[in-house]
Amino acid sequence: MTARIIDGRERAHRLRAKIKDTVSSFKQDGLGTPGLAVVLVGSDPASEVYVRSKLRATEEAGIQSFSHHFEDTVTQADLLAFVERLNTDPAVHGILVQLPLPAHIDKLAVINAIAPDKDVDGFHLENVGRLATGQPSFIPCTPLGCLMLLREELGDLRGRVATIVGCSNIVGHPMAELLLKNECTVLIAHEYTRDTGALVRQADIVVAAAGVPGLIKADWLKPGACVIDVGINRVAAPEKGLADDGAPKTKLVGDVDFAAALAVADAITPVPGGVGPMTIACLLLNTVDAFCTQAG
Ligand code: GUN
Repeated sequence: MTARIIDGRERAHRLRAKIKDTVSSFKQDGLGTPGLAVVLVGSDPASEVYVRSKLRATEEAGIQSFSHHFEDTVTQADLLAFVERLNTDPAVHGILVQLPLPAHIDKLAVINAIAPDKDVDGFHLENVGRLATGQPSFIPCTPLGCLMLLREELGDLRGRVATIVGCSNIVGHPMAELLLKNECTVLIAHEYTRDTGALVRQADIVVAAAGVPGLIKADWLKPGACVIDVGINRVAAPEKGLADDGAPKTKLVGDVDFAAALAVADAITPVPGGVGPMTIACLLLNTVDAFCTQAG
């Protein structure tokens, strides 16, 4: 058996095309243009790449983008004052502060300073509480993208056993809420779980979001499982030769031993080209939702 490879790029491409049409119809109908502000603090190379991709996708969809870059010496007070300015800017419908933030800044204070109706990441306490109590507004982009892929692959998720590996506020926690809401039986493994393999072996659905390359072994998987790999890990790839600085070239890999898992799973997302593109498409979706809520 060779697993189906779930093409997140193609799925995201279709979603982005629909969003672009919607945005264009808003403009034709004189309703205005959705706007997304993206705030980056410091110069974390991975964050710079993600932010660039988010801004490019925003512009391609016809959404107005506002990019703000602060040095990593910015004070928390200045950052909070800036978020407050975005909260009251009528051209900005969605606000995203890229994480991680430097250690001297209290990230929860910044996230909770964002107006809940502009919190397109869905990280504000109010939106987290809404998701947990079945009154969701903004659903965090990565779990929402994972859910869309799962629904498209499997249809109804009721009664399936889903194991999530990793319990971050960005992915693991909201993913668990979403799968519960979809009537799955949800197991969560984290770094203190004694036998993660034993939880994964029970799962019809595996969501790997631990940030550990190759953590999920093929022999942990139940034959026929649907595997969603959220990990994006940069590792040395000596087989690709040396870079200009003499160090081995690198490649991106997920949290699942992909090559071996192909022989066991029914379907699996690749890294890159699986969940990542869906995260960006869902950010655009949330921004359009924010625009509609604020316009209506
Ligand atoms: N850092 C890693 N993933 C995310 C995300 O989805 N949103 C934000 N704001 N920061 C991140």
